[in-house]
Amino acid sequence: MSALVVEALTVAFGRFTALDAVSLAVDPGEVRAVIGPNGAGKTTLLDVISGITKPVSGRVMLGDTLDLTKCSEAEIARAGVRRKFQKPSVFPALTVRENLEIGCGPALSPGERPARIASVLGETGLAPRAQALAGSLAHGEKQWLEIGMVLAAEPALLLLDEPVAGLSDAETAHTAALIRGLRRPDRAVVVIEHDMGFVEAIADRVTVLHEGRTLYEGSMHGARGDARVIEVFLGR
Ligand SMILES: Nc1ncnc2c1ncn2[C@@H]1O[C@H](COP(=O)(O)OP(=O)(O)OP(=O)(O)O)[C@@H](O)[C@H]1O
Ligand SMILES: [Mg+2]
Repeated sequence: MSALVVEALTVAFGRFTALDAVSLAVDPGEVRAVIGPNGAGKTTLLDVISGITKPVSGRVMLGDTLDLTKCSEAEIARAGVRRKFQKPSVFPALTVRENLEIGCGPALSPGERPARIASVLGETGLAPRAQALAGSLAHGEKQWLEIGMVLAAEPALLLLDEPVAGLSDAETAHTAALIRGLRRPDRAVVVIEHDMGFVEAIADRVTVLHEGRTLYEGSMHGARGDARVIEVFLGR
């Protein structure tokens, strides 16, 4: 069974086809990177998975039974899909710990929260900053806090759009280690990113999109050797 199956997904904005029969399957425990040129449809794909955009046709199956294209954004969140948007949206006047408490969501009982928060502080490397105000964090730390907030909800599927945009090399390396550490059999991760060194460091497999179509699915090493991928993307 796959964690996520996208089947012949087509999305149109007016007469413009942003996704044209895109299919892909993500295994449980996999970290998948979605790469490709600007305008390829990467963010649109995440918008459909998270219920913000509805497709013309096609299905998005979470596990074997739930078609996310038939669900509201709230139902998709309840099913365990969490998204980190590119721009960090932490609560600046609250501490790191308080932000993570919000990330836990209402379903988690107060008694269970300390252990969950301790685990997320460990995974993100933010334990020494637990009492700091989120507004005082460096840009990289804010990104890790926001990843922590979505992790606190124990998502089955985590969607990350450009998590290292604007980060320093050291912050990017920390983020790569963080994401590598997220691999768990009950959790799949889909990451959009333009930094190919980062993608190589984190991804089990890559999906290359180009003008709304799937150009390639497989290892990053294979993508680097694929003539069409080189022509439209990696070779430029
Ligand atoms: N709401 C919308 N209305 C009309 N066109 C849209 C809309 N959202 C996206 N598009 C168009 O769909 C195409 C795909 O956009 P998308 O944001 O998915 O690309 P992307 O692969 O994420 O690009 P980037 O790497 O620049 O973030 C683009 O041509 C974009 O202009
Ligand atoms: Mg995008």
